[in-house]
Amino acid sequence: MKKLTLLGDITPEQFLRDYWHKKPLLIRQAIPGFKPLLPFDKLAELATKDYVESRLVTKTTEGSWDMQHGPLKELPARKQREWTMLVQGVNLQDDNADALLRQFRFLPDARRDDLMVSFATDGGGVGPHFDSYDVFLLQAEGQRRWKISAQKDLTLIEGLPLKILKKFKATEEFVLEPGDMLYLPPHYAHDGEAIGDCQTYSIGFRSPSYQELGEAFLQFMADSIDLPGRYADPELEPTSKPAEIPKAMLGKLADELNKVSFTEDDFAIFLGEYLSEPKHNVFFQPLEKPLTAGKFQQSAEKNGVSLSRKTQMLYRGKNVFINGESFAMNKADKATLETLANTRGLNGATVAGASEDVLEALFAWYTDGWLELNK
Ligand code: SIN
Ligand code: CO
Repeated sequence: MKKLTLLGDITPEQFLRDYWHKKPLLIRQAIPGFKPLLPFDKLAELATKDYVESRLVTKTTEGSWDMQHGPLKELPARKQREWTMLVQGVNLQDDNADALLRQFRFLPDARRDDLMVSFATDGGGVGPHFDSYDVFLLQAEGQRRWKISAQKDLTLIEGLPLKILKKFKATEEFVLEPGDMLYLPPHYAHDGEAIGDCQTYSIGFRSPSYQELGEAFLQFMADSIDLPGRYADPELEPTSKPAEIPKAMLGKLADELNKVSFTEDDFAIFLGEYLSEPKHNVFFQPLEKPLTAGKFQQSAEKNGVSLSRKTQMLYRGKNVFINGESFAMNKADKATLETLANTRGLNGATVAGASEDVLEALFAWYTDGWLELNK
């Protein structure tokens, strides 16, 4: 694979082999000349919306931390020191932010989470902590001093509204300038302090816990298991202990319930629906005045279509997943739908060669706001 400037002078293969999930990597000028994609006012406006997750972190007079969850109707004065505003999911709100996140597509979409933007005034930060996810910290404005530590002791201070390490002993320290980027593997202790006004973009990756996945999988299976028949006991005998569950009943039912089994396909469909499901605060706006199917087709065949930035489209084998829904592709449509998922769009010629089924799906996704016509 070719080198990405994003990773400095190493290839994605080298990055994944030597750093991903293993050790930190500082990349000076990962994006030379990088500037904030949104002005401060736009960011602050996003933080006022109830469909955007935001937090305000301030330092208390005793030197501890305080946190307020958004929507943030008011912010401290810009000239006040030591506060941080964190805005999650900025990629869902802005095309340039979405394009930045998609520069990391040498990693699978199934692992990608979101772009969080933080704005901090001098001395601001969220304190020494660790994250459970891989993260790329891209400096967007001003400077931030990152102290990081390979320490194993990840005990947190109890009773605080945010995760702060009890003991933090930095083993390395760097000052990041705009365009510099620091990759940190999960559970790597870090503490970033703003030097003057500072914006940091966090490109985060998700890795669901097994417990969370297991619970969701069993819920999913509850809707899809098929166990015909009903318990029967024609051989029942009189009992002198009516309150006791009969041993034979337990055995017979255990045998029946043990027939529940999971196929590779069950796991794939569950995982695809789960990973493509929009987050709880993501809503699609169905079009108020969509074109007719015929007009849509005409335009799509001319200019092509693109997935909207909120759409998550994945596939595995014959199954395609889009925004939490799944369906099986037939062989003829597989190449077209895989291209749509991998390149997040189709050109006009490909749409013109698409089957009726694909056209119907594209039209439905267009009216739901999942996909847009190219201009
Ligand atoms: C920040 O940008 O202030 C915090 C990001 C992080 O430490 O994960
Ligand atoms: Co962090």
